[in-house]
Amino acid sequence: MDVQSEIDRRLSAAPVVPLVSADDTQVAVETAKALQDGGLSVIEVVLRSDAAQACMEAIIDQTEGLIVGAGTVLTLQQAQSVVASGAQFVVCPGLVDEVVEYCLDQGVPVYPGTMTAGEVQRAYALGLRAVKFFPATLAGGVPMLKAFGSVFREMRFMPTGGVSAGNLAEFLALPSVLACGGSWLTPADAIAAGDYSKITDLAREAVAIAADAR
Ligand code: 3PG
Repeated sequence: MDVQSEIDRRLSAAPVVPLVSADDTQVAVETAKALQDGGLSVIEVVLRSDAAQACMEAIIDQTEGLIVGAGTVLTLQQAQSVVASGAQFVVCPGLVDEVVEYCLDQGVPVYPGTMTAGEVQRAYALGLRAVKFFPATLAGGVPMLKAFGSVFREMRFMPTGGVSAGNLAEFLALPSVLACGGSWLTPADAIAAGDYSKITDLAREAVAIAADAR
């Protein structure tokens, strides 16, 4: 399977990438399954706890049909480690050349965070045609993406940071938006309560909003 094409195919059908932030492997697996039940099959496990990578590995081992990536990847060493563990794509909050170059070399799709024209241009020069736009609402939201869209005609953006069911449609209405990412689909209170059906409902709602917006 060409992972990049498969990610593109899935995101064109359901352009939403939920963030999974977990420190317990079983919770992570249940969360991932709940998202999949709701129609979202490209998920990003963020490296924000000591157990996060083990959570990502557990999801890869114990689920079928998901594309699982690692997020909040800050260093080359982390990128190497998650790719060795089976991460199928890498997301970063910012743009670090050696992380991008490593992923490109390995054939692993990578979405570095950008929020200025200079960062988008640098990503373009490194060979990327899709980047994360982070933190999306604080970095200028839809008007900023419209301004980027007129100059970076081949670049596609993954707005993340402040995206919710309330503003998802506005972002997805832009042709330059590949998909939106966010943690609103995996609320900590629902996870703490073991309410995985809430997560499935939020995923379904996002899929429905996306279908209307596109
Ligand atoms: C990220 O890592 O992309 C952000 O922390 C996600 O932001 P959100 O929690 O506002 O969705």
